[in-house]
Amino acid sequence: MSTAVHDHTHGHDDHAHHPTGLKRFLTTTNHKDIGTAYLWFSFAMFLVGGVMALVIRAELFQPGMQVVNPEFFNQMTTLHGLIMVFGAIMPAFVGFANWQIPMMIGAPDMAFPRLNNWSFWLLPPAALLLVASMFVPGGAAASGWTLYPPLTIQMGLGMDLAIFAIHILGMSSILGSINIITTILNMRAPGMTLMKMPMFCWTWLITAYLVVAAMPVLAGAVTMLLTDRHFGTHFFNPAGGGDPVLFQHIFWFFGHPEVYIIAIPAFGVISQVIPAFARKPLFGYTSMVYATASIAILSFIVWAHHMYTTGMPVQAQLFFMYATTLIAVPTGVKVFNWVATMWKGSLTFETPMLFAIGFLFLFTMGGFTGLVLSYTPVDVQLHDTYYVVAHFHYVMVAGALFSAFAGVYFWLPKWTGRMYDETLGKWHFWLSFVFFNVTFFVQHFLGLAGMPRRIPDYALQFADFNMVSTIGAFGFGMTQLLFLYIVVKCIRSGETAPANPWEGADTLEWTHLPSPAPYHSFDTPPVVK
Ligand code: CU
Repeated sequence: MSTAVHDHTHGHDDHAHHPTGLKRFLTTTNHKDIGTAYLWFSFAMFLVGGVMALVIRAELFQPGMQVVNPEFFNQMTTLHGLIMVFGAIMPAFVGFANWQIPMMIGAPDMAFPRLNNWSFWLLPPAALLLVASMFVPGGAAASGWTLYPPLTIQMGLGMDLAIFAIHILGMSSILGSINIITTILNMRAPGMTLMKMPMFCWTWLITAYLVVAAMPVLAGAVTMLLTDRHFGTHFFNPAGGGDPVLFQHIFWFFGHPEVYIIAIPAFGVISQVIPAFARKPLFGYTSMVYATASIAILSFIVWAHHMYTTGMPVQAQLFFMYATTLIAVPTGVKVFNWVATMWKGSLTFETPMLFAIGFLFLFTMGGFTGLVLSYTPVDVQLHDTYYVVAHFHYVMVAGALFSAFAGVYFWLPKWTGRMYDETLGKWHFWLSFVFFNVTFFVQHFLGLAGMPRRIPDYALQFADFNMVSTIGAFGFGMTQLLFLYIVVKCIRSGETAPANPWEGADTLEWTHLPSPAPYHSFDTPPVVK
């Protein structure tokens, strides 16, 4: 490539070929730049969705109406959900995919670099549509992120903007997934067979198929909603012979796989981090691949566990209950493998490992409350209560978000060439861990006591736990500003990272062990014989 002499004689040309600032990111086809763009976009959306969560928690600090009116409160629940799912969590893991997959499989870039650019740049307009929907007549959709009709057939313009935003967000993730599938299937280095890929690549390969299968179903559902609203169809409108429950079936046929679209790449990050800090190869690699694939397949036959209270036949309730319970088996395999990877390992507890272990505890708890909710007779009691809210925030926040933090701290030295401040990183973990539980653990009790979700006011008996939860939420929110500080400090003035920042975590001798090396792309790819 360019030498010093070359740079000297063609300095101005180089500048013209390598735009900087916004132009660099607008025109880039480089997987690393696009990965960076995804990650910063995701963090910005995380802050926007986080402020909305704080509006919700502020209103719920005490009973009675004080901070916002009920209509706006409901708009916040909708936008918080949509922005966190489609704007924050999914793009974060696509950002990881862009950065890591080409390096992990030995490819020069993603298969379709221009498509990659477009996949990213679809996101900001979609985010703008969602945020802008707050300011149109009637405000944003006040329906919750699930957009259930018949309510959403009547709502104002904000609902249409949400539908268009979902179309664009869906297009972005489908195109991104096609890119990931093609890259992994076609562009692996010689010798990098599928069963030798780092686990992160496997989890994204499986996730990408989930996205391609599930997102168009959501697009169909919201398009039918749109034609019900404006073009006289009656898919979901009982007044014209339609069926609102049909929407729930279609929505959750997308919605449950969506849970795993978020969770499976998170599993992938954890499967890279734990072996590195245990100085052992990932235990049970093959079983990990098959367990992940099993979870993905099962995720398509459990959707109606969100709908036990819609009056479906008992046989159907039993089917969805058993199918859901079945997912605990491959999930258990994965948790067992992570624990077995740590077993008798040479463990150290730097920030990425702390977040990975935090993930292990709290995600497992979220999994167990999911199991509780999968039992029809229990769910009939707990449906639409704060128990459900507590459950899925253990999966989404302590699961996906903690995993994303683990990934950022783990790969930040690789991406920036600099080390983050380990002491501050540990503070970030412990404050997040404590405030997360202060916020969400008490919500289990609120739900068990019967507090409904998506309601801006409540009976006096729920006051104490709500106050605790709101204090936790504000603490958690403030803590994330520390994360921003740590990352910016690392990029600007972090110490130069060594070739392998996690000492002894990545030695080539492991390539000769029967299970694949815990390859983290900190050095040359393992020699495959
Ligand atoms: Cu589900």
